[in-house]
Amino acid sequence: MSLEIKNLTHVYRNGVRALDDVTLEINGTFGLVGPNGAGKTTLMRILATLLRPTAGTARIHGVPLDRVMEIRGMLGYLPQNVDFYPTLSALETVEYFALLSHLTPRRDKLLQVLEQVGLAEAADRRVGGFSGGMKRRLGLAVALVHDPRVVIVDEPTSGLDPEGRLEVRRALGALGGDRTVLLSTHILPDVETTCSRMAVLHKGKIRFTGSPAELAARAKGRLLKVRLPREAIEKIERERAVVSIRYDGEQAVARVFWEGGEPPWPHAPAEPSLEDGYFYLLHREERIPAERS
Ligand SMILES: Nc1ncnc2c1ncn2[C@@H]1O[C@H](COP(=O)(O)OP(=O)(O)OP(=O)(O)O)[C@@H](O)[C@H]1O
Ligand SMILES: [Mg+2]
Repeated sequence: MSLEIKNLTHVYRNGVRALDDVTLEINGTFGLVGPNGAGKTTLMRILATLLRPTAGTARIHGVPLDRVMEIRGMLGYLPQNVDFYPTLSALETVEYFALLSHLTPRRDKLLQVLEQVGLAEAADRRVGGFSGGMKRRLGLAVALVHDPRVVIVDEPTSGLDPEGRLEVRRALGALGGDRTVLLSTHILPDVETTCSRMAVLHKGKIRFTGSPAELAARAKGRLLKVRLPREAIEKIERERAVVSIRYDGEQAVARVFWEGGEPPWPHAPAEPSLEDGYFYLLHREERIPAERS
């Protein structure tokens, strides 16, 4: 295993328990998802040795986190919010961050990392004119310059348009291979296309680990497509977990979770997506009233 996380707990000074006994094994390209405040950034900062855990341990390729310099040498980290000097070129930016890490890479090495993230053509352009997607990819290049075996990227696709997301996804895919990539995101399709395994973090606890297909399958047989007049659908929405509604004139089609006996409306089974599986996992206790049998 490249990343072994054991019983990791983090309590901030204000008493917030951001991680609660997290145990995870990570290899390949791995997706970490969870709502705002779930603890994703906290976990990533701990792995990047920027934050010391309250309890528990983690090893990266067998090296415990307290061997800080060794860990940093193996690891590239792209934080959730990064910005760059607008007047530097892409190449100068990567060089600047490399120098901060006491590296003095040659120009061909710098060009090579820019190539890896699809920015070779833009090497001499000023970063101030870059799109959101280009800036994220530049961040990836910065994280890659010392050729780390493990890359941790915190929400690399948030706030990007579909094209920008596609570019970043492509760059992330190209990093894979024998490297381990841990990425956090709110965008489930990004996990579906990029990651073979994933975990769901919720209120500091791991609620799921497995493949995206396995998470989608959690909702299998529990999701209905219901077509009724608008008002009837709106009534259902007030009482049950409705994933989506599409209005169609006076009619509406809803995707509704249902467990237990025969539903009181005409319905057809719906094929669950990863989003449905995620929603089911996080909300079933509070929002899906099961029929008693
Ligand atoms: N420096 C801090 N001091 C105190 N509490 C913090 C600090 N950083 C985060 N928290 C709290 O810890 C919890 C986890 O936050 P974290 O940023 O790790 O979540 P996240 O999953 O990354 O959320 P998001 O999806 O919004 O980025 C939240 O309740 C947050 O308010
Ligand atoms: Mg975060």
